[in-house]
Amino acid sequence: MSDPKKLFIKTYGCQMNVYDSERMAEALGGQGYVETQSPDDADMILLNTCHIREKAAEKVYSELGRFKGLKAEKPDLKIGVAGCVAQAEGEEIMRRQPMVDLVVGPQSYHRLPAMEEAVGKGEKALDTDFPLDDKFDTLKTRPKAKRGPTAFLTVQEGCDKFCAFCVVPYTRGAEVSRPAERIVREAQELVEAGVREITLLGQNVNAYHGHEGGLAGLIWALDKVDGLERIRFTTSHPNDMDDALIEAHGTCDKLMPYLHLPVQSGSDRILKAMNRKHTRDQYFRLIERIRDARPDLLLSGDFIVGFPGETEEDFEDTMDLIRTVHYGQAYSFKYSTRPGTPAAEKPQLPDDVMDDRLQRLQALLREQQKASQDAMVGKTVTVLFEKAGREQGQMIGKSEHLHAVFAEAPDVAVGDLRQVAVTQSAPNSLGGTLLASAG
Ligand code: 5AD
Ligand code: SF4
Repeated sequence: MSDPKKLFIKTYGCQMNVYDSERMAEALGGQGYVETQSPDDADMILLNTCHIREKAAEKVYSELGRFKGLKAEKPDLKIGVAGCVAQAEGEEIMRRQPMVDLVVGPQSYHRLPAMEEAVGKGEKALDTDFPLDDKFDTLKTRPKAKRGPTAFLTVQEGCDKFCAFCVVPYTRGAEVSRPAERIVREAQELVEAGVREITLLGQNVNAYHGHEGGLAGLIWALDKVDGLERIRFTTSHPNDMDDALIEAHGTCDKLMPYLHLPVQSGSDRILKAMNRKHTRDQYFRLIERIRDARPDLLLSGDFIVGFPGETEEDFEDTMDLIRTVHYGQAYSFKYSTRPGTPAAEKPQLPDDVMDDRLQRLQALLREQQKASQDAMVGKTVTVLFEKAGREQGQMIGKSEHLHAVFAEAPDVAVGDLRQVAVTQSAPNSLGGTLLASAG
């Protein structure tokens, strides 16, 4: 048998890309590829790209520039660009970087094996269709190899919301939900491979409609999967938080008390200009209802500063919203103009104004993150252990609230769920003492 060919995949952007990269590696496994951690010994390099902000998209071209030397040394090396930059820029990528052999959009990666064969014959391959056949149907079932205790599972793709700043509806297309029975089967396979926690992924995951009762219905179906201990989902739009999903946060033990619910801005004027289709008051009322269902819920969010037309007063409204809601953690971004989106037509704010606002906003979010972590000291949390720590005998895992937790745990194995008494709060993690297991 000939040596396996080596595949190096570099993943940018969101968790959906992490999931897609796994599935692409599996698809190419059928072509005789195994993954390598280094581009230097690869027979094929695949960049799974992100187009959400300009910086993310530009990274792809600088990374490709770095592979030029490798390609010169090894002319058989195949170079591919996948993901949202592939979708948005298509052939333009091959024009800018002629050494690229293959461009594949996020909806077409089930066609990768055939594309790889075409490239093997010296052809260029490009596929940025939104095909009618479901890539998840075409892909083989997942390999049975043992894996770590946590996994992502894409249940929904695309978005119909058309926020004025966002490329997702164009790069990922319209909302599509995978049928629930396939998701449940994939979850069972993941559990058989050692997974105990699954994060359901979708650009607009709470708009999932592949099961009666929407995402809540799917969560309850997964709740019945033996051996699956924890369920999370990301990322959600406030307008799709229906009653059943809110209630599930209070009643489903496997659903973790953590919710990523981006609001982007706290100003009604800017929310309207962003086409978010809700007001700040509606968001406040929603948060109240979710916290009534699950009082200890840790809330996460996304914020954009410097959207076109944002005044100092609008920005202060965002700061005020953050102070009122209190986030356990959150992501924040400077507005980035994306070609083809409605907001791209509007005059931009000066960079120094955006920088200043981002710094002030991030300082507030850091303060809140610290307060939320510090509040865990003295409490007992359940930790799903994921890997060994740097120090001898130390293990690292995640709490129900998704805090990273370190503990001296020489007898604990990866995949164990154990109770830890939290004793300290460091900048991005908690430290604690392992409690004796109950029986
Ligand atoms: N500029 C800045 N941030 C953006 N996001 C999406 N589009 C843009 C843009 N054009 C942010 C939003 C979204 C997160 C995934 O990325 O906050 O929730
Ligand atoms: Fe983009 Fe999210 Fe708005 Fe959809 S809901 S357009 S993915 S920001």
